[in-house]
This record gives sequence, C-alpha cells and structure tokens, in this order.
Amino acid sequence: MKTPVLVLNGPNLNLLGLREPAIYGTDTLDRIESLCHDTGKPLGLHVDFRQSNHEGVLIDAVQEARTAHRGIVINPAGYSHTSVALRDALAAVGLPVVEVHLSNIHRREPFRHHSHVSGVADTVICGAGAHGYALALTHLAQLTQQAKPTQGNPR
Ligand code: DQA
Repeated sequence: MKTPVLVLNGPNLNLLGLREPAIYGTDTLDRIESLCHDTGKPLGLHVDFRQSNHEGVLIDAVQEARTAHRGIVINPAGYSHTSVALRDALAAVGLPVVEVHLSNIHRREPFRHHSHVSGVADTVICGAGAHGYALALTHLAQLTQQAKPTQGNPR
C-alpha cells in the first residue's frame, strides 16, 4: 500500500519555465510534477500533485487532505506572505507539513522574509530550486512513518 501525500502549489507556479527564470529556474511545473512522481515511487509515496491560483481552492485541498493524505508538501508561493487562512487550514488538519520555496526567500525582498506557513510547517526548504521538492518528499516520507495515521500533530 502506497502512502498518499499531497504536493500543493500556489499562485503563478503554473507559469514556471516562463516566469522570472533567473529566480525560479527553467523547469516547468510539469517537469517538477514528474520529478515528484519519480522521487515518490521508491519512497512508497503516491503523489497527488496540484496547483491553484486561488486561495480558497488551496484551503479546500488542505482540508481534503485531512482524510485523503498522510502528509503535505506545499509551496504556498505568494500566499506564504499573506494568508493567515491557509496557515490556519494547515494547522487544523494536523498532518506533517513540509514547506518548499524554489528561491531563497531570505535573500530576496524583505516582504518575502516572513512566511505565515513556516510556523505550522515541520520543515522548511528554500533555495534548492526544483530539487527542493525531491528533498521535501524524501523528508516527508520519514515524517509520515513517525506520525500515527489517525492522530494529528498538536499545534
Ligand atoms: C516562491 C517564493 C515566493 O515569495 C513567491 O511569491 C513565489 C514563489 C518560491 O518558490 O520561491 O511565487 O514560493
């Protein structure tokens, strides 16, 4: 039985490849999705890979994950810096969470230095480009083994 995990991508990440390649690299989101499936397979993970430009859709996906998935990798993109509601959803579901950013947000504009999500994430990976997703899934595989399936992590 594979362990189902959610890889959730926020706004504008559908434009990867075209979007500011000097910052985000040239990999498309499709390429990152393949990387996630390839990384997940030997780890025994079934990767459900999604992207939305809409805050409410991302929140619905997080809420769904409570019963459908055993852990979450999330690149909240611009909502990292603005969305208390997304943070609250992640805290509510009590699943292991690994936050990923392609770029090193701490080396960029000051408004990117704070992420509302980081306070409810188990782990934060930033600045490793697309490889950050592979690192995140490798670590999430460990976290899902530590977490009991029916019990949330109190936060
Ligand atoms: C990002 C960093 C965010 O600040 C930005 O708004 C993004 C992408 C990253 O992956 O580096 O859209 O999350």
